[in-house]
Amino acid sequence: MAEADNTKQESRIFEPPASLVQQATISGMPAYQALCQEAERDYEGFWGRLANETLEWHKPFTKVLDESKAPFYQWFNDGELNVSYNCLDRNLKNGNADKAAILFEADGGEVTRVTYRDLYERVCRLANGLKSLGIKKGDRVVIYMPMSVEGIAAMQACARIGATHSVVFGGFSAKSLQERINDAGAVAVITADEQQRGGKQLPLKAIVDEAISLGGCESIRNVIVYRRTGGNIGFTEGRDLWLHELVANQPTDCEPEWVNAEHPLFILYTSGSTGKPKGVQHSSGGYLLWTALTMKWTFDIKPQDIFWCTADIGWVTGHSYITYGPLAVGATQIVFEGIPTYPNAGRFWDMIARHKATIFYTAPTAIRSLIKAADADANVHPSKYDLSSLRILGSVGEPINPEAWMWYYRNVGQERCPIVDTFWQTETGGHMITPLPGATPMVPGSCTLPLPGIMAAIVDETGHDLPNGQGGILVVKRPWPSMIRTIWNDPERFKKSYFPEEFGGKLYLAGDGAIRNKDTGYFTITGRIDDVLNVSGHRMGTMEIESALVAHPLVAEAAVVGKPDETTGEAICAFVVLKRARPSGDEAKQIAKELRDWVAKEIGPIAKPKELRFGDNLPKTRSGKIMRRLLRVLAKGEEITQDISTLENPAILDQLKQAQ
Ligand code: WT7
Repeated sequence: MAEADNTKQESRIFEPPASLVQQATISGMPAYQALCQEAERDYEGFWGRLANETLEWHKPFTKVLDESKAPFYQWFNDGELNVSYNCLDRNLKNGNADKAAILFEADGGEVTRVTYRDLYERVCRLANGLKSLGIKKGDRVVIYMPMSVEGIAAMQACARIGATHSVVFGGFSAKSLQERINDAGAVAVITADEQQRGGKQLPLKAIVDEAISLGGCESIRNVIVYRRTGGNIGFTEGRDLWLHELVANQPTDCEPEWVNAEHPLFILYTSGSTGKPKGVQHSSGGYLLWTALTMKWTFDIKPQDIFWCTADIGWVTGHSYITYGPLAVGATQIVFEGIPTYPNAGRFWDMIARHKATIFYTAPTAIRSLIKAADADANVHPSKYDLSSLRILGSVGEPINPEAWMWYYRNVGQERCPIVDTFWQTETGGHMITPLPGATPMVPGSCTLPLPGIMAAIVDETGHDLPNGQGGILVVKRPWPSMIRTIWNDPERFKKSYFPEEFGGKLYLAGDGAIRNKDTGYFTITGRIDDVLNVSGHRMGTMEIESALVAHPLVAEAAVVGKPDETTGEAICAFVVLKRARPSGDEAKQIAKELRDWVAKEIGPIAKPKELRFGDNLPKTRSGKIMRRLLRVLAKGEEITQDISTLENPAILDQLKQAQ
């Protein structure tokens, strides 16, 4: 873990503002420590108390944590609830019926205010519509939707009837969609005719048609289409239906399906170390508990807040901090259809000002690209907008570099708003390590301390604790309610990936390296320790991209590594050996373009290699193993100073030095 040892010690400390500390849900470090101690003293009692206080149970649970089938941990397993009931009906009962649940802003700027009652009725009608198609508890439904109220309603409607949803990000290709439909065995897809982003219409329904035509989607009985743009689409009689026609005559109430706390609420595919994405399965009770609780703890959500998470519902951040967490706590949130740079790079700041957002949660990549834009054009600098409504800022998805942190803190938060740098993963369901806005002194670039009840630690390769100041492997020592339950269709892979025997089978392995500060004990994430890249906060498996490349008829072999990138955090760099002679000049450029487009078609545009280099071969050991560490150095454009005595073909390094 070379990176860990190089971590620069950041010494600036920023205290949370006293006014915020005073009224915060977790007010001051002693309050944080008290909760941590409660969890340590009586782990089950702690979680049981919170589950009773935070959620409404149809049937109370009597057992908090069942470890008998470890690592397939079960939480609140004899309890019953409904997630959609907790997010909607509970708000109608609590006097929030006329409160705005969603302030939806379309790409073009039109705003729709959706109250809790409106949302409840929309969800119920859609839930009834799904039931009318024979969709029932336990069925899987794939959702391939733009950012929309309908997308959120589709997820909630599935939850209401006990169907397990699997949202596929609208940027994924037909092939990726087909693989996910097939793996999940989905009975229906909910999609839109097109999506509208940055003033452009992009197809969705056409991609669903293509995915199904690839075969292996025989489980699909219906495709439900939300009309977003009115663009021209094909319709398969008997299979395809308009969403507005499906819900037209449905009742506006729908009795929720009470499910066991462990009932799978959703499957969300994410990248791992192999070519095949993993279907991360989440529960109903434990998951909802943690998304609701972290809204209160990490975001200190209050009834009058206007919360804005800029993620897409296709990623876990959109699941936890758009569809579920904010609704479970009765918050008002902004939902945005478009992109941060349209009509100009001041869009986020303009929206914060117009909607009077109080909590703003975005990704470092977005911040870095908006810094660049503001440097180039003073009119889109945050100082040109009234951001005085903001009280808390958040960061998610990748490490935030101290420079970007400082810019965010000064220019967006005006040195008034704490930044919660939230470390977590698709698998963790919600925040794990993060500052608390009314308690934790912040250090730029550090996600600081684990939330109460989260037993994060740093260990060596044998699973033994490392002292502060020594970089190692990030683990969680005890199960927590919102943890991944299994990998859909692949429980063995679940065990191997997250609870490997080398670590005694009891430590949850995050897949990240981390280091704790000697004095403060603060955590800093040093990056993935597996073959997973983080490009613009999107997780990409190097093997997935390699498989896509070698599927091209011209390609004999490919190796993909990450290289640091100023804006996207990491960038994808591919080293390719063709079945024919190594190309050069214009031919190389043209083949590189063809391969990039090919990867976009195979996986999605987010997986396109930024850089592609051709060689006669790849650097290999005598036993034929590709030496990726050397490729990483080459990708960075650095000289190789490492030991290359095991390298069989040193001459290849010169060839691969140059980008085409
Ligand atoms: C990986 C998880 C977190 C939800 C969205 C991404 C990296 C995430 C941070 C952070 C440093 C971070 C890790 C992690 N990551 N947040 N605050 N600081 N690194 O979820 O796609 O499952 O990716 O993102 O490497 O393992 P994901």
